[in-house]
Amino acid sequence: MDIGVIGAGYVGLVQAIGLAELGHRVRVAEVDVARRAKLEEGILPIYEAGLEEMFAAAVGAGLISIHADNCEVVSESELSFLCLPTPAGVEGVADIGFVQRVLEELANGVGGRPIVVIKSTIPVGTTARFIRRFGDRLVIAHNPEFLSEGTAVKDFLEPSRIVIGSDDPAVADKIAATYVGMDAPRILTDPTSAELIKYGSNCYLATRLTYVNALANIAESVGADVLDVVRGMGLDPRIGPRFLQPGPGYGGSCFPKDTIALLATARQAGYEFSLLQSVVDADRSQRLWITGNIRRMVDDDLSGANIALWGTAFKAGTDDSRESAAVKIAQSLIAGGAMVTAHDPRASISKLRMAPDPVECARDADIVVVATEWPEYRSVDFAEVAKIMRGDMVYDLRNLLDAAVVRRAGLSYRALGRPRI
Ligand code: UDX
Repeated sequence: MDIGVIGAGYVGLVQAIGLAELGHRVRVAEVDVARRAKLEEGILPIYEAGLEEMFAAAVGAGLISIHADNCEVVSESELSFLCLPTPAGVEGVADIGFVQRVLEELANGVGGRPIVVIKSTIPVGTTARFIRRFGDRLVIAHNPEFLSEGTAVKDFLEPSRIVIGSDDPAVADKIAATYVGMDAPRILTDPTSAELIKYGSNCYLATRLTYVNALANIAESVGADVLDVVRGMGLDPRIGPRFLQPGPGYGGSCFPKDTIALLATARQAGYEFSLLQSVVDADRSQRLWITGNIRRMVDDDLSGANIALWGTAFKAGTDDSRESAAVKIAQSLIAGGAMVTAHDPRASISKLRMAPDPVECARDADIVVVATEWPEYRSVDFAEVAKIMRGDMVYDLRNLLDAAVVRRAGLSYRALGRPRI
C-alpha cells in the first residue's frame, strides 16, 4: 500500500519505518527543515533501539521518502497517519492545535475525501468533533499508538492489540490491513471508545504504579520487603508480574499528561474522578517523600549537602528526561540548598551540573541517589565510589543495585521499600 505519515517525531518515525518494514511504500511529511535534512541524509533525529537499522533497510529498499508538503503526501497515499504532537496545554490538557491545523490544511488542500487516521493521543471526544467539522472533506479515524520508549520497535511489530476507531467498517478494515501479518487482536470500535482505551490503559498503569509506590513506602516503614511483596502479588494471574516496580514516581511524555487529560474529560462529563485525582496527588507526594528522606539522611539540612544523582532519564533505555522524576527531585533538592551533580549514560540536562561518569559524579558527595534503572550502574566500581565520596550513603530509588556489593565497598545502602540493615 502507499501510506502517508504526517509528522516525523517519535511516533511518526516508528510508524513510518515500521510500516516500511511490513512492505508498504511510505511517504513522510515533516515541516521542520533541519529534521527533514537529517532524514534525507539517512540520519534519525531520535534514538530508539533497533530503529536506525530498520530505517537504513527501508531507505535501501526505496520504501521510504521524505517530503515537505502534507497535502502532496496525503493526495498520493491510500491512507495517511497523523502523528503530530499533542503537548500539555492549558491546565495540562492535551493541546490539539497541531492536529486541528493540519486537518484544516488537508480539508482545504486535498480533494477526493482522503482517509486520515489520527495516531496522536487526543482527548476523548476529539475525533468525533473533528468528524463533525471536517467529515464532508476528510474520512477521519483514530488508531491510538501503544509504544513505550526503549521498546517501541518491538511494540510496533508485536503489538498486544490493534485498536481502530472508525464509524465506517470498510475504513476500519482498510486501516487494519496496513498491519499486515500481525496476529494481534483487533478491536474495531467507534472513535470515542478508541480514545478512551488509550487513556484508560495509561491511567490504569499510572494508578497501578502509584499504588505500588505507596506499598513500598509502607513496607520500608514497617520493615517489610516490597520486592517480595510485589513478587507475591504478581503471581496472582489476575494481577500479573509486570509494571509493579516501585520507583520515584512516573514520568515521560504520556502518564503525567494523560492522567491530567482524563481528569479534565471526567470533569467535563460531570464526573468527579477522585480516584485518579488521588493518583496524581500521590505521585507528586512520592517525590516529596523521597526528598524528605534525603533531607533526613543529611541531618535535616540540605544546605551544603552534596548529592550525586545517577540517572536523569525518566526510565532506562531512553535519552528522554521529559517529566522525569529524577529531574524533579534534583530541582527540589537544589531549591532546598543542596548541590546536585548528575550523570546519565544518554540524557543530558542543561540546567543540571552533569558529570562524565558515575564515579566522577560521586566526587565529594554525601549521598549517591540512584534515580534511573540503567543496568550499567550495577557494575560501577563501588570501591572507587567509596574513595571519592565525602559521605557513605547510597539511596537506591529503583532497587537496582546489589546491596551486598555496595556494602562490601564500605558504603551504607538504602533501597526504596526494603528493610534497612
Ligand atoms: C507509556 C505506556 O507504557 C505506553 O503504552 C504509552 O503509549 C506511552 O506511555 P512510556 O512513557 O514510554 O510508555 O514508559 P513506561 O515504560 O510505560 O514507563 C512510564 C513510567 O513508569 C516511567 O517513569 C517508569 O520509570 C515508570 N515505571 C514503569 C515504574 O516506575 N515501574 C514500573 O514497573 C514500570
